[in-house]
Amino acid sequence: MGKILIIGGGAMGSAFSIPCLENNNQVTITEPYNKIFIKNLASKKKFHPSLKLNLPKKLKFKYYTKNILKEKFDLIVIALSLAGIDFIGKELKDLRIKTPLLVLTKGLKYDKKKNKILTISNLFKNNYNASNVSVLKGPCLAKELAKKNKTSVIVANKNIKIAKMIGKKISTKYYIVEFSKDIIGVEICSAIKNLYAMIIGAGIHLNTSSNLFQKSLKEMKYLIKFFKGKDETTLGLAGLGDLYVSAAGGRNSKMGYYLGKGYKFEVAKKKFMPNDTVEGEQLAREIAPFILKKTNRKRIPLMINLLKSIIYNKKLKIN
Ligand SMILES: NC(=O)c1ccc[n+]([C@@H]2O[C@H](COP(=O)([O-])OP(=O)(O)OC[C@H]3O[C@@H](n4cnc5c(N)ncnc54)[C@H](O)[C@@H]3O)[C@@H](O)[C@H]2O)c1
Repeated sequence: MGKILIIGGGAMGSAFSIPCLENNNQVTITEPYNKIFIKNLASKKKFHPSLKLNLPKKLKFKYYTKNILKEKFDLIVIALSLAGIDFIGKELKDLRIKTPLLVLTKGLKYDKKKNKILTISNLFKNNYNASNVSVLKGPCLAKELAKKNKTSVIVANKNIKIAKMIGKKISTKYYIVEFSKDIIGVEICSAIKNLYAMIIGAGIHLNTSSNLFQKSLKEMKYLIKFFKGKDETTLGLAGLGDLYVSAAGGRNSKMGYYLGKGYKFEVAKKKFMPNDTVEGEQLAREIAPFILKKTNRKRIPLMINLLKSIIYNKKLKIN
């Protein structure tokens, strides 16, 4: 079907290779950063330490060098965590790579100089001259995808034809792809759901959490409108769908649970989750300066209280 390069051999990049291979693509994975992933992906068995399975034999692994980006691919998939985005953006810019990009990474950046929140597709376009950027988001636990459990995701691009072309390359019976033109709404939803998953986790009990769930959705609707996304996106896979899976389990809702129990963020992190990356924390620190100043705080009291609890290390107030 095509030649796909996946940059990032973490849980998501590796799991994503499975439907791509099943759809008869030639898939190469490369890992620029993590020595454990490199060691495992380069081995014969390709045992993935966080997915806890052997990846398909057909999956090719190449050590990361700039040269790999110069090879001819039909699609380059970015599956690095947010911390790796500037690195790969710069590499792609320096080499003037024009291959279509598909970004799996979730998160947002704050541009201090312009006082603007940038989505990852904005960042690739504005800072790294990438012209053809699509994003793939939605409720997808990498471990479940790797076991071929039925998973639905959404690919967004203003040019829906490009999104559909990508969908054709990657979808299988168990990996179902929807499409959207609302790239900004999809990206904002897929990032802020991590913060709302913390808030819902802080409810501790199901009755309380359900109430926080519906309040979270209302706040997400406000924020999506604020950033000029579409209302319907909040209720789609990148919004409501991803919020459900993140609130039901995962590191953000776990951290939320400790905040709800009355621990301050720094104490909870040190005591219960010292080695875990809590994506919601990183996002909070990134977007707090903008959200606290520029939005209507009365419309998003849960978000405001959560941001304050993280950045000022204060007890979380959710009522
Ligand atoms: N779109 C989806 O369907 C979907 C689903 C789940 C997760 N995700 C997102 O995918 C991203 C990766 O998640 P994961 O579960 O694979 O995480 P992971 O921790 O298993 O892997 C992280 C990847 O980022 C790389 N990385 C980390 N820090 C880096 C740095 N400073 N420079 C360069 N590379 C660096 C690692 O080497 C690795 O390749 C996250 O943003 C996550 O939110 C997307």
